[in-house]
This record gives sequence, C-alpha cells and structure tokens, in this order.
Amino acid sequence: MTILVTGATGTVGRQIVAQLVERGAPVRALTRNPAAARLPGSVEVAYGDLTEPRSLTPALEGVTALHLITVGGNSYADYAPLQTGPEIVALAAKAGVRRVSVLGGWDETSVEEALRASDLGWTQLLCVEFMANAFEWAESIRDEGVVRVFGDHPGVVVHEADIAAVAVAALVEEGHAGRSYELTGPQALTPAERVRLIGEAVGRQIRFEELSADEYRASMRAAGESDELIEFAVQLGANPPAASSIVQPTVEQVIGRPARTFAQWAVEHADAFRR
Ligand SMILES: NC(=O)c1ccc[n+]([C@@H]2O[C@H](COP(=O)([O-])OP(=O)(O)OC[C@H]3O[C@@H](n4cnc5c(N)ncnc54)[C@H](OP(=O)(O)O)[C@@H]3O)[C@@H](O)[C@H]2O)c1
Repeated sequence: MTILVTGATGTVGRQIVAQLVERGAPVRALTRNPAAARLPGSVEVAYGDLTEPRSLTPALEGVTALHLITVGGNSYADYAPLQTGPEIVALAAKAGVRRVSVLGGWDETSVEEALRASDLGWTQLLCVEFMANAFEWAESIRDEGVVRVFGDHPGVVVHEADIAAVAVAALVEEGHAGRSYELTGPQALTPAERVRLIGEAVGRQIRFEELSADEYRASMRAAGESDELIEFAVQLGANPPAASSIVQPTVEQVIGRPARTFAQWAVEHADAFRR
C-alpha cells in the first residue's frame, strides 16, 4: 500500500509528499536525481524518468495510488508534454495502482488521454496559475524593489499547499475518481495587487511597472527564452482565458476549509523577497 508521487521535488510535489508524511501515509518520491532530492529523511526516494517508462518499474512496485505530472523537462522553459502516457498508465495498471491524481497544464497530454482510456480511478487537478509563480519576481524585488509585468489582468492564483491537499484527498479517500477539479484561490488578483501584498509582507514599498508587449518580448529575449515561449506568453498576457479570473469553490468543497489567500502565501514566503 504505497503512494508514489511524481514531480516530488517540484513545487506541488514537495507539498504532497509533506502532507502524506504528516498523515502517516506510506509515501515514495520519484526523481531523476535521488542524490539531489532534499526530501525528509523518512521519505523513500526512488529513481525514475517519466520519459523512459521502463525506468519506472521498480518505483511502481507495491504502489496502489499514484500522483502524476504531465511534463518531462529540466526547466520552466522546457516543460515538454510527456509522450509516454500510454506506457506509464499501462505499467501503473500492471503494478496494481487503483487511484491516480494528475496535475497537468492547460493542454491535455498523452497522460490524460491514456488515463481516460484506462480502467484506473483517476482525478484531474486543473489550475490556472500557482501562487508560487510570484517567485519569478523575487530577484527584481530584492535587487531593485520593482516588478515589471506585461498584462495586469486578475488571476485566481492558487496556493500550492491547497493543490497538494486536494491531490492527497484524491489519493487516500474514496469518492474522487472520475472527477475533474478546477482549483483556484479565494480571490482574483491582478499582478499589481499581488505585488502590493508581497510589499506588505516584506514591509517595503515595491514598484509595479507594466511593460508594453515589445518591452516584454525584449526582456524575455534577453533572458534567453525561445520565440515560441515568448509569443505564447505575450498572447496569454494580452488575452488571458476567461477561466483565469473565475473563483471556484472546489478547494473548500474537497478539503473542508477555505482556500488559502495570496496574503497568507506572501507572509509565508516573505524572506525570499527580502534583501
Ligand atoms: N506553474 C503553474 O502555474 C502551473 C499551472 C498549472 C499546471 N501546472 C503543472 O503542474 C505540474 C507540476 O508543476 P510544478 O511547478 O510542481 O513542478 P516544478 O516545480 O516545475 O518541478 C518539476 C518536477 O518535475 C519533475 N520532472 C521533470 N521531468 C521529469 C522526468 N522526465 N521524469 C521524472 N520527473 C520529472 C522534476 O523532478 P526531478 O528533477 O527531481 O527529476 C520536478 O519534481 C506540471 O505538470 C505543470 O504543467 C503548473
């Protein structure tokens, strides 16, 4: 009866592992680099690469519940959708996995497709944007006391610990199979409003500057981003999808307490924004 967490060294995966440990659940964490995993000593760490499904066989031994990510890559700019969904899902079914939670991006990948075609009980977690994306602003806040953003539309950013709490519920409780959960925070906040809340948490006035599309392109080019990612980000900044500003009650419905606020997130992480 082991729960295998993929993406266990990532933003959400670390929280899932921590919450499973807190509940006393038997958890195994998957990583491509066990030596660098920095997970609590009580956690069993297993090697595996989602782009090489055969490497997952040892990690899946004795696993009855599985948390899946849908990308395989080394960095934010390299969030390549996994092509190996059918093999991963077939191996999971063969190993005796019964429950799966899957945290994907906006576009479904081979992982969701394969789960849909399988007999596994799976729960889809959909998020527009993590609160943790605000770490992208940490360097310019620390160094210059400024945040430069293209597009100041409200977004229903969700706390990583709440995504994790819903994943944990789907992994350990009955009643979540076949559900698709849209997870949001409790408010739609513009980047400028989030920056103000970080400023309050840090105790420092932070300037907010809205970039033009061309200034934004130039800043991303200087950061070495690909043309494809730049145009995707510009489109997103100019025309965010309607869902990105609609608060959903799902977190509270699933975990039985209100979704955490961005103000809370900012206080928890204030040190990352201090000089
Ligand atoms: N950021 C957002 O706003 C947002 C919004 C919606 C959905 N999402 C989705 O949320 C999911 C998780 O994102 P995150 O931000 O928590 O992750 P993250 O912090 O970016 O970390 C990436 C994780 O993926 C693992 N990984 C990458 N390639 C792998 C591979 N080939 N085999 C095995 N593991 C691999 C890494 O593990 P190792 O390096 O240890 O192997 C690491 O744990 C992703 O599917 C993403 O698309 C993100």
